[in-house]
Amino acid sequence: MSEKSVLDKTIPWTAVMLLLSGMCVGEGILPAGPVSGAVAGTVKFTTTLRPPEKPFLSVSWRFNGVNIISSTSVNITDPGYAGRISIDRATGSLELRNLALEDSGEYTITITPDGGLPKQGRSTLTVYAPITGATIRSPAAILIEDESSTNLTCEASGSICSREWIKDGQPLNPSGSVSFSLDNKTASLQPVHISDRGTYQCRVSNPVSTMTATHNLTVSFGPYNVLITGPSAAPQGHSITLQSGCLMAIRRMLITRCIS
Ligand SMILES: *[C@@H]1O[C@H](CO)[C@@H](O)[C@H](O)[C@H]1NC(C)=O
Ligand SMILES: *[C@@H]1O[C@H](CO)[C@@H](O)[C@H](O)[C@H]1NC(C)=O
Ligand SMILES: *[C@@H]1O[C@H](CO)[C@@H](O)[C@H](O)[C@H]1NC(C)=O
Ligand SMILES: *[C@@H]1O[C@H](CO)[C@@H](O)[C@H](O)[C@H]1NC(C)=O
Repeated sequence: MSEKSVLDKTIPWTAVMLLLSGMCVGEGILPAGPVSGAVAGTVKFTTTLRPPEKPFLSVSWRFNGVNIISSTSVNITDPGYAGRISIDRATGSLELRNLALEDSGEYTITITPDGGLPKQGRSTLTVYAPITGATIRSPAAILIEDESSTNLTCEASGSICSREWIKDGQPLNPSGSVSFSLDNKTASLQPVHISDRGTYQCRVSNPVSTMTATHNLTVSFGPYNVLITGPSAAPQGHSITLQSGCLMAIRRMLITRCIS
């Protein structure tokens, strides 16, 4: 076998190996998994490489296939990145500052070592707007137990990835009268029970920030404005007369007595 035919056979295999290593490992010399950044924040793509004895011949980074910085004997930076990008020539790592939502996408690195095959890596960046202004809105109505219904709506700005509801410190789950919209933005209490009174929280999150809104829900024993007349205390064992047009109002008195 001549030297040439050995090469002919070797080169395609090298290409296949490169292709395979690029495809199977996927991320190559970058850690697996997506990277998250915050608007106006900073992100660093750190390679898994240790600084070589002889400096890399070249390091270049692309964003969605377009060259953004390359460093050989000279450095060429895309004007759109001036002042907010730097590379670590020893490891190839990239730092990107003052992030914008549009920086979300795929970043690829190609390194040419001084001897040996080029190395590649790929990583995906998602930039999120931090969550601000989380608040729980609810109609300003008096809620009467077992009669009224209400909706608690969790508003917030920013990149909202998830909302979770908490009542009195415990996760709030759907139940007979409690239901959530698909995006968890609205919790419906239909109807409200006296046990629905308490402190509601909505935790709005994305991978870079979280914000919790709080709302106290008041539920009244129904119905309202019923006058109950009668003695406020009576010796134990004696019967008392409470006058009221409504059974529920009487129940309220009795409950109060039991607790106190
Ligand atoms: C290119 O950038 C790297 C990293 O910032 C720096 O260490 C190096 O000195 C620069 N080279 C030139 C020629 O400006
Ligand atoms: C709560 O929301 C549902 C669905 O959007 C609506 O049909 C209902 O009238 C709302 N209830 C109240 C009390 O606002
Ligand atoms: C809605 O809340 C439930 C549990 O509280 C949670 O598992 C789910 O991921 C939330 N969905 C969204 C879209 O936030
Ligand atoms: C809600 O109620 C709790 C406990 O009663 C109280 O500490 C808190 O200040 C109240 N929060 C609001 C927003 O009214």
